[in-house]
This record gives sequence, C-alpha cells and structure tokens, in this order.
Amino acid sequence: MGKYILLRHRDVPGMDDLKVYQANDGFVAFEKAVKSMQPADVTLEVKNSGLRGRGGAGFPTGIKWGFLPNNSWPHYVVANADESEPGTFKDREIMEGNPFQFLEGLMLACYAVQANQAYIYLRGEFWQVAARLDEKIKDLEDAGYLGEKILGTDYSLKINTHLGAGAYICGEETALLESLEGRLGQPRLRPPFPAVVGLYGKPTLINNVETLTNLPMIIQKGADWYRSFGTEQSPGVKIFSLSGCVKKPGNYELPLGVTYQELIFEHGGGIVNDNKIKAVMSAGASSDVVIADDFCLQTPLAYETCMERIKAPLGSASVIILDETVNMAWLVSKTVNFFKHESCGKCTPCREGTFWMNSLTKHMLANESSSEDIDLLRSVALQIQGKCLCALGEFSTMAVVTAVDRFRADFETHVRS
Ligand SMILES: Cc1cc2nc3c(=O)[nH]c(=O)nc-3n(C[C@H](O)[C@H](O)[C@H](O)COP(=O)(O)O)c2cc1C
Repeated sequence: MGKYILLRHRDVPGMDDLKVYQANDGFVAFEKAVKSMQPADVTLEVKNSGLRGRGGAGFPTGIKWGFLPNNSWPHYVVANADESEPGTFKDREIMEGNPFQFLEGLMLACYAVQANQAYIYLRGEFWQVAARLDEKIKDLEDAGYLGEKILGTDYSLKINTHLGAGAYICGEETALLESLEGRLGQPRLRPPFPAVVGLYGKPTLINNVETLTNLPMIIQKGADWYRSFGTEQSPGVKIFSLSGCVKKPGNYELPLGVTYQELIFEHGGGIVNDNKIKAVMSAGASSDVVIADDFCLQTPLAYETCMERIKAPLGSASVIILDETVNMAWLVSKTVNFFKHESCGKCTPCREGTFWMNSLTKHMLANESSSEDIDLLRSVALQIQGKCLCALGEFSTMAVVTAVDRFRADFETHVRS
C-alpha cells in the first residue's frame, strides 16, 4: 500500500483512468457491498469505523445514515462539492485526481441508504470539474457499475452532476437543496432535517466529497483497519489544506491527531522568510484566530482535542497561518468583507450585522475610527451569534471576536488619536 488513502493519485499516476483505478483495488468495495452485504451491514461498518463528516461539523457518518426513515421513499443522496470556504481546496484535488474513489464512495453511500438517484452539487466555478465527472460517470455506466441492475443485482443507481452559481451559502446543506430544486439558495428552517425531509420533500443524505472518498477503503479493509489511523474519537486520515504564511502551502493527507507544530514546520516547511508565527485559523475564514503559542502548536488536530485545548473547532481543517507581519484588523476586514458578500440576506442579524462589521472595519483601515468603534465591532458580532437560521452568521463573527479579544493592539494602531 502506498502513502495515501485519499490522495492516491499521488502514489499511482493515472488514477483518473477507470482501468488504472480498477487495477488498484478500484470497485472491490462496491462489488463486495452490492453482491454480498446487506445495506445495513455497510452502514454498520461505517459506524464502527468512527468516520466523521469532513464537511466541517464532524458528525459521525454512519450515525447520520441511520437517520433516514424506512417508511418514506425514495431516498436521495447528495455529494456536497460546493467547497467555498476560503482556504479549503481539498475536494477539488480529490475530484480531479482520484475521481473514481469519490464516485465509488458516493455509490456505497447510495447503496447503504438504498437511494437510486444521487446528485453531485458543485460550486459554479467548478464547471470543468463537473464536465470531467460527467465523463467518468459515463465510463461507469458503460462498464455496468451504474444504471439498471448493476453487476447483475437488483440494485439500480443514477448519478447526475449539478452546478450552482458560485454562492458560498449553497454549501450549507439546506440552501444547497433549495438551489438543487431550482430556487434561490437560502437555508431552510430546521427541524425537519434533510435526513427526514430533504430533496423534493424526501429523506436525503448529504455528505462531503472527502467523507465519501474514505468509504471504499473502509468497506474493503474494514473498520478496525481504518481505526488504526487517527485518534480514538477522530479515527482515520484527514486532508489539511494548509495556506497563508507558510513556505509550502498545499494539501496534506495526514492521520487526525497530527499537531499544528508537525503540520506547519515539518510538512509545511515553516514560516515564510523564517518570520515568527503569530496566529492560526483551523477552519478557513470561519475560524477563531488562535494565538500560536507553544500550547497551541502542540495541540493535536482532531475534532475533540481542538475544542478541548484551544476552544476552536477543527471544521474543514483548512489551516491558515498568520505571521508577525499580519495586522489582525486587516485580516478581519478581509473575512467580514467575504461574509458580507456571501450573506444570503434571509436572516436580519446576518444581513445587517455583516454589513455593519464590513463598514466598521473599512473605516478602521482608513484610520477613521475611534477606540469605541473596536468595541462596537465586537458588540455587532456578538449580536449576530445564535440568531440565524444557519451557521453563516456565526462563522462571520468568529475571527472578529477572537481577534479583537486577543490582538486588540493591532486594532488600536488604526485608531484616530
Ligand atoms: C455557510 C455554510 C457553508 C458550508 N459549506 C460547505 C461546503 O462547501 N462543503 C461541505 O461539504 N459542507 C459545507 N457546509 C456543511 C454542510 O452544511 C454539511 O454539514 C456537510 O455537507 C455535511 O457533510 P458531512 O457530514 O460529510 O461533513 C457548510 C455549512 C455552512 C453553514
């Protein structure tokens, strides 16, 4: 076995060719599942593996599959390929380099919840990725892996790609469903959750691309094998999208539990110009800004340890590194500008709050603010928290509150005397 579980195209050139993928254990898991396993056994194996959703929330995958009721049909599965979080670029590499493993994972999820129709929802900018996936889906139909009565069994499955229009909010699962149904991408009120009332009002499973790409190896090699990587509560491997002030930015597939220190200095080559590291963000723009002291750098990157030690969610593990040259007022002006642009406008606290945070930080950078404006910025952020239908509002406040609390001096440099 090579070095990689997810980014296997880095070990084996040409993995985006069906024959090469087949020659490297491709579709062994899917064939095993449809020919010799009950759907519930597939779900049980995934439950036992401890796999947690890689889209951000880290919810246990097998448990989520179990939420789809068996008295309401049809079931749908949607692969979330929206990948719009600033600093996140892992799903794209999977879909481009190792598309069949992703598709096989999607097919395993479909079989487990007995869905006969799946959709891959991609952000609008990924139109080339979608076109290539369409070709791969056609290859699978021609080879008898997709379509009616797959591999001589009674199971049938169709997969379609669907392009959004490039809105961040459409990565949020209920806005995604609205968009997929042809409406404006805005979040739905929950409950009911998509597992019960989802696409076209039917039970729908939504999983992230990376989550799904783990499945073929789990089914082929078993839950115990998968648990040999990672930590007790966060088993397996994760792709860390490393960016910012590091010498070697990029995607790093590593066992969950690797420390910030190892990720940044061993794999990422350290800080540009050998500058001093100042702070880290673990989940793209939607992150707390965490002071990069020794305690932080020794924190294992796993769902439980990030929360326990540095009180910041691991999220999508898009790790952004900030060095001593970065002014946090500038950083926050960038994140709030993004969220102001991407707020869908449905919830007033998010729509108005992101507008005001953007306006305040703009004035700050122009040195047109007073010290009270720093407190006002923090106060606006706090008034958004917990008051919106989806987490976008919450996300927009995380960098603001933590940066003001931990790096107030950076904001003060912009204050009028
Ligand atoms: C504003 C917002 C944007 C999101 N964007 C994405 C995204 O681009 N890709 C993704 O997989 N999940 C995204 N999510 C999380 C999804 O709502 C959902 O939790 C996820 O697709 C579930 O898949 P998983 O269980 O495999 O992690 C986003 C959530 C929010 C609130």
